[in-house]
Amino acid sequence: MRTERCVVVSGGGSGIGLAVARRFAKSGDRVIVLGRRLDRITAAAEEFGGTALAVDLTDPQAVEDACARLPEHIDVLVNNAGERVPPAAGPDLVDVAAHWRAQFDHVVLPAVLLTEALLPRIARPGGRIVSIGSTAGLRGNNAYGAAKAAVHAWNHTLATRVGPDGITANVVIPGFVADTGFRFDMTIDEAEHARRAEATLVKRVGRPEDIAAAVVFVASPEAGYMSGEFVNVSGGHVLGR
Ligand SMILES: NC(=O)c1ccc[n+]([C@@H]2O[C@H](COP(=O)([O-])OP(=O)(O)OC[C@H]3O[C@@H](n4cnc5c(N)ncnc54)[C@H](OP(=O)(O)O)[C@@H]3O)[C@@H](O)[C@H]2O)c1
Repeated sequence: MRTERCVVVSGGGSGIGLAVARRFAKSGDRVIVLGRRLDRITAAAEEFGGTALAVDLTDPQAVEDACARLPEHIDVLVNNAGERVPPAAGPDLVDVAAHWRAQFDHVVLPAVLLTEALLPRIARPGGRIVSIGSTAGLRGNNAYGAAKAAVHAWNHTLATRVGPDGITANVVIPGFVADTGFRFDMTIDEAEHARRAEATLVKRVGRPEDIAAAVVFVASPEAGYMSGEFVNVSGGHVLGR
């Protein structure tokens, strides 16, 4: 019989993270969702009987305080939280530097800080760390793409570090996923959806559930011989290496 696992999902109140949290909860796991907006994570936790914990994952002290309230044993950590920040206010280098720093803060730090804080509690052996990357980290897309590429690179060091303890660390790389709160600065109308769908091999845009399915597999006990990997879930829009 399958035993209940303790799963922490950052950014579990919306979009991909919510779909991931739902999938684990449906499989009978105990799920804890993290995010800044208490209303979103509370609604998610109430929906599937999980726990919500509000935290800004870019803030080291807040991460420490929040983690003090998390269980001592964690089986799966999903580093999903991350966001695009507004473009540089202008060409002034001070603005450019502020934009790049902010983008790295909002993509890299949530994964790195939460992982560092929880690492001692991740199950040994059998623990799973899954981080959400992006095809932007493979093909560019400015500071956001560069920050996601940093997550991809960081994962390799992480996987090397935790491998001897029987923990795996992998990156699931989504392409364009609809129905998320992700792109506040882009207009995604019907025409743009159609354009994005056409650019894939399967002729449709991604759904949060597509990404969740890959995360759940990579986090499964059966996936123990898979580590340091990139799992590309982009409908073939960006082909893997
Ligand atoms: N949608 C896409 O097409 C796409 C493609 C490739 C990769 N991704 C990646 O997928 C992940 C999930 O994004 P999404 O598309 O599902 O968008 P989303 O709906 O905006 O989800 C992002 C989640 O992360 C949380 N979050 C962001 N910054 C946080 C912080 N500092 N501390 C705590 N929680 C934080 C947000 O909650 P709060 O605002 O309440 O904190 C939100 O629930 C992100 O890493 C994103 O970069 C998305």
